[in-house]
Amino acid sequence: MTDGNAPGTAVRRDRFSGGPAREFLSSLAADEAIFAADLAVDRAHVVMLAEQDIVETETAGAILSALADVEAAGHGTLSEGEDVHEAIETAVIDRIGTDGGRMHTARSRNDEVATCIRYRLREDLLAVAEATIALREALTETARDHVATTMPGYTHLQPAQPTTVAHHLLSYESAIGRETGRLLDAYDRTNRSPLGAAAFAGTPFAIDRKRTAELLGFDGIVENSMDAVSARDFLVEAAATFASLTVTLSGLAEDLIVFTNKGFLELDDDYASTSSIMPQKKNPDTLELTRGAAGDAIGELTGVLTALKGLPRAYNRDLQRVHPGVFEIAGVVRDATDVAGGAVATAEWNTETLSAAAGEGFSTATGVADLLAMAGLPFRSAHEIVAHAAASIDDATDVETTAATLDAAAEDVLGESLFGYVDREDLERALDPAASVASRDSAGGPAPGTVEAAIRRVDSAIATDASSIADRRDGLTEATETLEAEVASYV
Ligand code: ARG
Repeated sequence: MTDGNAPGTAVRRDRFSGGPAREFLSSLAADEAIFAADLAVDRAHVVMLAEQDIVETETAGAILSALADVEAAGHGTLSEGEDVHEAIETAVIDRIGTDGGRMHTARSRNDEVATCIRYRLREDLLAVAEATIALREALTETARDHVATTMPGYTHLQPAQPTTVAHHLLSYESAIGRETGRLLDAYDRTNRSPLGAAAFAGTPFAIDRKRTAELLGFDGIVENSMDAVSARDFLVEAAATFASLTVTLSGLAEDLIVFTNKGFLELDDDYASTSSIMPQKKNPDTLELTRGAAGDAIGELTGVLTALKGLPRAYNRDLQRVHPGVFEIAGVVRDATDVAGGAVATAEWNTETLSAAAGEGFSTATGVADLLAMAGLPFRSAHEIVAHAAASIDDATDVETTAATLDAAAEDVLGESLFGYVDREDLERALDPAASVASRDSAGGPAPGTVEAAIRRVDSAIATDASSIADRRDGLTEATETLEAEVASYV
């Protein structure tokens, strides 16, 4: 029964009971994602209304008991309706009669839904941020084992200079670290309460917006009531952050896919797949799906921006279409981040293949040019000598032949021997990939000592970020406990 409103629902009266467009209007199915959020928002609002003497304590108790019942029954039992907000209110009225309708005093579905979205998105942002921590730990742990494992470094996907597995992986740790930062920034701007803005123009009731914000674990309120119901830029920010993170992940996945192709790396069976026809195949499907997730996330960001572009103030129903995709993409991003971390943590690096490949394609050429420049030649002349020699060097790992070719190039370019500038021993060292890496100890460079120091800083940055996430989580848990205790005092 919806006494007072029969035969319609709480919000829709007879005239608006809906015709063919009813289903098109309804967000009830998608609202499952904010069912828990809406119950919390209802509870906080009712507690505040009672505290402000806007509803009587007894009525508040009846509403809060009905909400517990609605929660236990679950989203699936809600009667058809325009959305979860209306359906929950209807369910409360069905249980306790027209007094249930007092729950919606001094608010609108506009501020209600905006609050629910932020409440739910906080969880998603924290979950993805936690996944980035696990991935960064996996990258750093693997780096720790491979500080001295030389490998080819590429530009344009051509052998460029030798580096190490640790340096390569830590480059991704740095990038993912910035993603953690973006997620926390997005969280802090999301974590403000629009509740109490009502339709957009505030309310004459003596509500306490700060109190509902506090009960829901928000850091404060979105002050301007028109901004509070209209703003969805926090969704843009979340979607942009998810897109950025997946683009970073797609690069990591691509590198690892190329490395499996070159035999540098073997994925654990748990992170590989096979072919239904070719029995010998071991395919990096999990990494391909990780790479592919970027397409979903970029599409989502584009969708959010496009839906919001040009919307007038204050509330427009277009907004209903914006958030569900962001929640969905958050799940995709979280899974992709988890899988990337698992793949990194369990993969086997073939150190011999890697170090044999490290010198391929005369990757030590820059080091030779650096050596000549350090001996006093202008870098441009040094570059010219080495470039001249490089044309006829296939395999610089044959040190003696390479040295002779370089010397001949110096004669051609300078008209004098290379060995007037450098010792043979130093030249041979420059041609050794491991020595080449060890020499590049400038800040942030791949020399093992430099990377070891970097790992110590990374460890502490990860710990700091992990505790920032935990602090925010604790804040939410505390608020939930406070709200539960308040609710318990009424029922
Ligand atoms: N289901 C709606 C949404 O998600 C709730 C707000 C409805 N507000 C309104 N004025 N019709 O946006």
